[in-house]
Amino acid sequence: MRLTFAITRLNPETDTHRHEEEYRLEVGRGMTVLDALIRIKNEQDGTLSLRYSCRSAICGSCAMEINGEEKLACRTSVRKEWERHGQIVVAPLRNLPVIKDLVVDMSSFWGKIQGVTPWLSTVPRTEAEQGAGLLALLPGSYQFHNVDACIMCGACVAACTTHEVSKGFLGPAALAKADRFLADPRESAASKRMRLTELDKENGIWDCVRCNFCVQVCPKDVKPMEAIIRLRRAALGAGLVSSGGARHITGFADIVERHGRLNEALMPLKIVRFNLRRMLSVIPLGLRMLMKGKVPNPFAHPIAGIGQVRAIFNALGGATRLPGRNHP
Ligand code: SF4
Ligand code: SF4
Ligand code: FES
Repeated sequence: MRLTFAITRLNPETDTHRHEEEYRLEVGRGMTVLDALIRIKNEQDGTLSLRYSCRSAICGSCAMEINGEEKLACRTSVRKEWERHGQIVVAPLRNLPVIKDLVVDMSSFWGKIQGVTPWLSTVPRTEAEQGAGLLALLPGSYQFHNVDACIMCGACVAACTTHEVSKGFLGPAALAKADRFLADPRESAASKRMRLTELDKENGIWDCVRCNFCVQVCPKDVKPMEAIIRLRRAALGAGLVSSGGARHITGFADIVERHGRLNEALMPLKIVRFNLRRMLSVIPLGLRMLMKGKVPNPFAHPIAGIGQVRAIFNALGGATRLPGRNHP
C-alpha cells in the first residue's frame, strides 16, 4: 500500500513559517510511523530532522503529534492511523519551541523536572521515621502509583491545556515526578512539607484545570492528573489551605455540606474572602452571571433532605475532613 505522509517542516535558518511537505511511501505490514519517517529521511529527503533512539517505547525521545494527538512514533502503527483517520499527518510536539522539523527544545521541560527536586532529600528523618521507612521499603509494601514508569517523553506537557496558556506552569510530568518523591517513605515529614509548600505556590498544583489530556496521551499510563490530585490532598492534609485553589475546594465542600448543593453566589466569598481589591475584580463577572440567570439566591434555604447530605459528610468522618473548613 502506498500512502502519503504530510509532515510539518521548519528550518529556522531558512524558513519564517512552518509548512507541510508530502512524501509518498510504500508501507509494509507492521510498519510504525517512526519506521516510515526514517525511510523517508534515508530514501527521499535527508534534510528531515527527527529525534529517536530506542525504537521500543523506552527512551521517550520520539514523541510527536500524529494525526492531532501526542504519541510515540515508534509504537504507532501506520496502518492503524490510516484506518482510523484516512491520513498520516505528523507534526512536532505542541507547547515546546521547535528546533527543526520534528525536533523540539526540551530545555524548559527538563528545567521544570529539576525544579521539583527529583531526588531524595538529605533532611534527616526522626528515629521513628527511620524505622517506619525501612519497614515501608520491604518488597511489595510500597508503591509509587506507576509514576516511576514515566519515560520523560513530554507528550503530556504538549497536550496540557494549562501549559498552552501559562508557560510557567510546572506541568504534568514534573508534578507527577514530585508525587513520586512525596510517596517515598525514605523522606522525612519535614522534607515532604517543604516540597508541598513549594508546589502550593503559583504555577504549581492548583493551576491544573483537570482536563485529563495528560492522562489520555501518556504512553506509560502514568496518569499525571491523578498524581496532581494526590498532591492537592497531601497539601490540604498538611494544612496548606490559604491558596486560591485550596480555598476553592474547602469552600465548595463547605457550601455543599451546609446547603446540600453548590451555590455559585457564595463561592467568591469563600475564595476571595474579605480581600476588597479581589472582591472588586470579580464583581464584573458576577454581574454578567447575574444577567444570564446563573447566580442563585445566596439566601436560599438548604435543599429538602439536607440532613442526609450532612449525615454523609459525618459518616465519611475525620479522614476526609479538610483542614481549614468550618465544620458545623
Ligand atoms: S489535567 Fe492538568 S496537568 Fe493534565 S493536561 Fe490537564 S491541565 Fe495539564
Ligand atoms: S507522564 Fe507520561 S506523557 Fe508525561 S512525560 Fe512521563 S511518560 Fe511522557
Ligand atoms: S524511539 Fe525511544 S521511545 Fe520511541
